[in-house]
Amino acid sequence: MEAADISADLTEVLYTKAQIEERLTELARQIEDDYAGKELLLVGVLNGALMVMADLSRELKRHCEMDWMAISSYGSGTQSSGVVRILKDLSTELQGRHVLVVEDIVDTGLTLAYLLQNLKSRNPASLNVMTMFRKPESMRSPVEVAYVGFDLPNEFVVGYGLDYAGRYRNLADVGILDPAIYA
Ligand code: IMP
Repeated sequence: MEAADISADLTEVLYTKAQIEERLTELARQIEDDYAGKELLLVGVLNGALMVMADLSRELKRHCEMDWMAISSYGSGTQSSGVVRILKDLSTELQGRHVLVVEDIVDTGLTLAYLLQNLKSRNPASLNVMTMFRKPESMRSPVEVAYVGFDLPNEFVVGYGLDYAGRYRNLADVGILDPAIYA
């Protein structure tokens, strides 16, 4: 669905499907350059990174492998708890691999910090992060993100894989969710 289909639920559309596509194309060219001559393993973080993984991988004009982790932050609502549980682990050994973690959004960075620490202990040859969206709060996190799609305002957003209570992931655009929906 598109923002127009659920306009009553959004206070603002931040990025359209076309803008997201354009930015992903730029990032794909950068990633192709940076990983030239190296085998690339994309690690998607379910469920949010579903869309960005699908679109980024198809935009890459080179081979890559893909694997998935499913994690869940304890707690619900619109705040990150930073306590993370692995629901599904990778099927791939990371030893000696060039790993690019593909994320939907980095907010406090707590989820990512946990994930990177876990993946680093498996001795990859390199470990970097690409996120489609980043929030201002992440500036206080020591976690380094090599590729960022867009910086967002400090608002709760939905769409392009990002959900509220399981909904809105299939929104092709990204917008600010009307606080009345979660108040
Ligand atoms: P962090 O640990 O604070 O960086 O939060 C990361 C996770 O919180 C993301 O993977 C999302 O699942 C969720 N999240 C943070 N901000 C938003 C948002 O604005 N919309 C939807 N999910 C969000």
